[in-house]
Amino acid sequence: MQLIQIGHDGPKVAPIGMGTWAWGDTLFWSYGSDYGEEDLRAAYDASLEAGVTFFDTAEVYGSGRSEQLLGRFAAANPDEHVVASKFFPYPWRLLRNSLPKALAGSLRRLGLPSLPLYQIHWPFPPRSFATWLHAMADAVEAGLIKQIGVSNFGPRQVEKVIKVLESRGLRLSSNQISYSLLARGPERNGLLQLCRDHKITVIAYSPLAQGLLTGKYSRQQPPRDLARWLNSASKLGRLAPLLAEMQRIATLHGDKPVSQVALNWCVAKGTLAIPGAKNAKQAELNAGALSWSLSEEEVERLDALSG
Ligand SMILES: NC(=O)c1ccc[n+]([C@@H]2O[C@H](COP(=O)([O-])OP(=O)(O)OC[C@H]3O[C@@H](n4cnc5c(N)ncnc54)[C@H](OP(=O)(O)O)[C@@H]3O)[C@@H](O)[C@H]2O)c1
Repeated sequence: MQLIQIGHDGPKVAPIGMGTWAWGDTLFWSYGSDYGEEDLRAAYDASLEAGVTFFDTAEVYGSGRSEQLLGRFAAANPDEHVVASKFFPYPWRLLRNSLPKALAGSLRRLGLPSLPLYQIHWPFPPRSFATWLHAMADAVEAGLIKQIGVSNFGPRQVEKVIKVLESRGLRLSSNQISYSLLARGPERNGLLQLCRDHKITVIAYSPLAQGLLTGKYSRQQPPRDLARWLNSASKLGRLAPLLAEMQRIATLHGDKPVSQVALNWCVAKGTLAIPGAKNAKQAELNAGALSWSLSEEEVERLDALSG
């Protein structure tokens, strides 16, 4: 398996990681009814077993429960995984020292002395993101974080981040963005190429388009949760030809699940995909994409159908 390096000198991890937004979240996801802590523990164990070592979380996921669960699951072997968490620039966070306070909370919930990768969740005002970058640079100097990442930053913002960090002798390691066969904006606006040029790892979130690219949802059978239902309504109609080609490719590779075609397309584009999983079965299926890859010609056909 080809590993991917985070940033220019970060840890090397499998190109498929695990996203943990749904872990403990009852606002957007149905934690506690469809799935619970033991399902997630099994998903965590199955991922590690299959060589998936990168776990993405955030202080806002489940209001801290995602970080707590991850901390509990990893308690026996905290060195086996690479954790990335995120700082959320809430509008009431006006002072630079909001960031070290938030970081301390994340480290406590995760049970870690330092964080391999800390990301600014969104480039939201009122404070400029430069303020948070300087606070992150302070945290690197204090040994509390190893690498700095951003999330949902566009090309012009990334260029500015590079300059701010350069002024502190540091480099940007990653940009976490929505990227999948159904979200290809980062190719069109030059973001993907910019990140490649600067060795900034693109972490592809929602790589399964929140389940749409697994083939299990359709117009007749949309996702049940309201947020996903609203989000998927416009996409379900144009999905059929793409899913048919994905199915054809999956069958050719030995009856693989369609979801693995979606993940391997992200891998073929040089990104680190972080599908969310709610149980061991989903975690195993997602990690299964690491055992095979798409040909260049298959990637081109998928590009043509999803463009
Ligand atoms: N930085 C940001 O702003 C941001 C935003 C969004 C997400 N993220 C990160 O990216 C991660 C992944 O994104 P996401 O959860 O939005 O979407 P996703 O990974 O595209 O989809 C995850 C959902 O698809 C379904 N699924 C997963 N594996 C499956 C499989 N093998 N077969 C069938 N169904 C499967 C599950 O839901 P069902 O079983 O209910 O269908 C799962 O919750 C998040 O957990 C989070 O870490 C970051």
